[in-house]
Amino acid sequence: MDKLFIHGGRPLQGTVRVSGAKNAALPILIATLLAPGEHLLDNVPDLADVGLTLSLLGRIGCPSLVPEGAGARVRLDTSRIAWSEAPYDVVRKMRASVLVLGPLLARQGQARVSLPGGCAIGVRPVDQHLKGLEALGCRFELEGGYVNGRVDHLRGAEIHFDMPTVTGTENVLMAAVLADGVSVLHNAAREPEVVDLARFLRAMGARIEGEGTSTITVDGVPALRPPRAPYAIMPDRIEAGTYLAAAAITGGAVTVEQAPVDELGAVIEALRAAGCEVSTDTQGGGPGGRVHLRRTGPLQPVSIETQPHPGFPTDMQAQWMALMSVAQGRSEIRETIFENRFMHAAELLRMGARIEPDGHCAVVNGVPALQGATVMATDLRASASLVLAGLAAQGSTEILRLYHLDRGYERLEAKLNALGADVQRVPDDVRLVRPGSAQPVRVAG
Ligand code: EPZ
Repeated sequence: MDKLFIHGGRPLQGTVRVSGAKNAALPILIATLLAPGEHLLDNVPDLADVGLTLSLLGRIGCPSLVPEGAGARVRLDTSRIAWSEAPYDVVRKMRASVLVLGPLLARQGQARVSLPGGCAIGVRPVDQHLKGLEALGCRFELEGGYVNGRVDHLRGAEIHFDMPTVTGTENVLMAAVLADGVSVLHNAAREPEVVDLARFLRAMGARIEGEGTSTITVDGVPALRPPRAPYAIMPDRIEAGTYLAAAAITGGAVTVEQAPVDELGAVIEALRAAGCEVSTDTQGGGPGGRVHLRRTGPLQPVSIETQPHPGFPTDMQAQWMALMSVAQGRSEIRETIFENRFMHAAELLRMGARIEPDGHCAVVNGVPALQGATVMATDLRASASLVLAGLAAQGSTEILRLYHLDRGYERLEAKLNALGADVQRVPDDVRLVRPGSAQPVRVAG
């Protein structure tokens, strides 16, 4: 297992290019199960979760190939399905595996998927997934921690989600496209990654309207086929937001390229309110545009409340808490999506931050500077927040349990070092002998 050493205090300068969106790639890779044949996907990020998804699809009977030197292209053959199951050992590592439920039921009429169980940020049930699929005619039995689903004939239906759920909307959408008749998904998630999935489904022949709004209408078709051309995954708005926050917290000047500018409104607005100069432009052609951020003056405290898109994204909350830890004043951070998404606070406190988490709200009193320390990642976005803190801290920071970070950030240390950071990935047994020194050395024994 690896860990990161970060020698902080260096303002980031330069340009960084955003990779494909993890939370669009996972549902789109799984949606290929709906259309037998060979699929070509571009701009697929090289992430642990993508690797897990491809290995799950391989176990289902759909081999994939990542051609050497073809950039981020993935070739996937879904002609045959040998196994309609997502086993516990995969689902417990990546809850998004439950997304195979809709496509396997639509294509095979049956599926056996492990319940995901909880995770660090909350219980995260899948009751809305099952409710929506039942409305389409599916029947489920719970047995030994698994959901056994069957359906004889998928029929279009009206579905009302109790709350906007991203993967719940995606699971039901992927079944509705092959149902007999029209389905209407009410209180659907509006996240850009849901929109990207809908676009991919339409490229396979699905009839969908309203994606990106709370009401999605689907006119089911008898069959789908692979898109006629390679499909490019949208850029990752959370990765883009994370690099903008890295520029802000280090007082640098960074241009983020291939960023989904239109999907970053709430984050850009908060960064401007915090005293950053932010300008955007859409590059000629290619996915996404450019966002340039520069911060010269002090960081102002800005309170935020996470909301479903287009509100401030919960996946940027931890990064925002790190940023506000060194703002000049008091801010409040309210997490309304998940019940336990403040674990990064305890680690930031060890770096000298002044944070008082209280249920769904955390009060942050900014300090002049954070101090480097050894800290532990607890979940994907918490690990990103510790990286931001380490970039700004005085001295060196060591971040353990790096596998959390590798789930969602492609080549993070290379991208940060290209911006002037001093980040090193080393095996777990390397110890920082001289606290504060930049160069970790391997310690005997
Ligand atoms: C997706 O998770 C993302 N993951 C998460 O990103 C993201 O934080 C989340 O949406 C919210 O935006 C992927 O897209 C793979 P939800 P998801 O269903 O779909 C409750 C990251 O860091 N709920 O929208 O699992 C749920 O408990 C990850 O990249 C039910 O009660 O989230 C939560 O409180 C973390 N029953 C709320 O809805 C259900 O059946 C929203 O969850 C489903 C959800």
